[in-house]
Amino acid sequence: MATRKVTSTAPGDEDVSCAAARLTVNGEELPISPASPHTTVLDFLREHGLTGTKEGCAEGECGACSVLVARPGVDTPTDWVAVNACLVPVAALDGQEVVTSEGLATAGEAGMPPTLHPVQREMAVRGGSQCGYCTPGFICSMAAEYYRPGRCAHADSEPGPVPGGGADPEHGPNGFDLHALSGNLCRCTGYRPIRDAAFAVGTPTDDDPLARRRRQAPPEAVATEYAQGGSAFLRPSTLAGAVRLLRERPDAVVVAGSTDWGVEVNIRSRRADCVVAVDRLPELRQLRTASDHIEIGAALTLTEIERRLDGDVPLLAELFPQFASRLIRNSATLGGNLGTGSPIADSPPVLLALEASVVLADADGEREVSLADYFTGYRQSVRRPGELIRAVRVPLPLSPVTAFHKIAKRRFDDISSVAVAFALDIEDGIVRTARIGLGGVAATPVRALATEAALEGRPWATETVEAAARVLRAQGTPMNDHRATAGYRSAMLGQSLLKLYAHTTEAVSS
Ligand code: FES
Ligand code: FES
Repeated sequence: MATRKVTSTAPGDEDVSCAAARLTVNGEELPISPASPHTTVLDFLREHGLTGTKEGCAEGECGACSVLVARPGVDTPTDWVAVNACLVPVAALDGQEVVTSEGLATAGEAGMPPTLHPVQREMAVRGGSQCGYCTPGFICSMAAEYYRPGRCAHADSEPGPVPGGGADPEHGPNGFDLHALSGNLCRCTGYRPIRDAAFAVGTPTDDDPLARRRRQAPPEAVATEYAQGGSAFLRPSTLAGAVRLLRERPDAVVVAGSTDWGVEVNIRSRRADCVVAVDRLPELRQLRTASDHIEIGAALTLTEIERRLDGDVPLLAELFPQFASRLIRNSATLGGNLGTGSPIADSPPVLLALEASVVLADADGEREVSLADYFTGYRQSVRRPGELIRAVRVPLPLSPVTAFHKIAKRRFDDISSVAVAFALDIEDGIVRTARIGLGGVAATPVRALATEAALEGRPWATETVEAAARVLRAQGTPMNDHRATAGYRSAMLGQSLLKLYAHTTEAVSS
């Protein structure tokens, strides 16, 4: 990583070194200064006249602010990844490359209008836009999927049950995965014409500039010290540098994808004297498989983990599509989801059922803590000031019977009322081991130990499961809130186990 020191002491103070921090937008380099360390990419773009990028919610739920960022690819050197510009501080993109909806069209000859991008053209001709407020965000999310390496390899030549679509209603005949749009909301057009446009886009041509750009490396991460008006955004280049910094600044807010911090800044007006970004630290971005565990770097995005594991951990594969939206998963990390300690986070129930552990690092070294011992209270954990989550370890072998049930008001892009994850070993009809992780029923994510005990050593049969479901209904201390009543939450716990049982017995009898 190259290092930049970018400091100014007051808003508007024109320190010459501020000019070093730059973001390339639609091929043009723009200075980040004098933006504050809390200025979002969305506000930065709009202040530069790129008003196609819209604010709908400012908390990562509508996708009106979606833009494309050049990131290290999984199958190609660069992936065009769609992210929520409302959540990411612009200082986090120092040295990076962004494309907005304005940058997708190709400029016309003098006096001629620009040529629409294929995604824009399909949205226009298929009536995918009415008031147009959401459209630039949809266009960017669609463009990310248009350029996804391997998309066409999943193309389905057989016509399926969806008008104009493929055999799988969530994938088009062109391989387009509708989950790419799960973070984009439209209030007026309706989704059918948008889906038609998505399922009609073709393959990028050889001279398509963004397709060509994928073959070169993305911009390197830049180690940044960006300070304005008494606040600093710092990006150390190594884990050693990061933990040293956190020892000096234990008050610092640690961010990876900013999907949580961005909401705090926008909705709760929180500000921090010092924000430390760890999302590009190489030591936090490894995925390794050993004989007895898989180690997942805490700063890999959920999309990266999903694509790199490619179903190797079925319980995680079941979690990912239900975790917020593709836009959020393109930035969110396991480290962030565990670091915030939310009792309704989606990954802890799954990781508890997998008996995962957390590798914590500080300036003195590392320690490994079982996730079952990690949470100590509401948004509290054993993580000490100055410690970072470096990785999550999932022990091998995996239990063969797994399920993740997220009960929420919407299927995608929603917060769970209750979440239950199961990992069971059933041998010769007897439950040998049962691990059950719960979210949304206590001040912390918890293991359902009493239910596990009610299952282990007993036949996987109706009588056992109904008795264990009664135990599960009484686990935790669920509360009434705007998402669900305590009674509903308890009922859903029991139903989850009955549902799992029904699925396993259906699978056996079919
Ligand atoms: Fe709604 Fe960003 S403005 S997701
Ligand atoms: Fe109006 Fe989508 S076209 S909100």
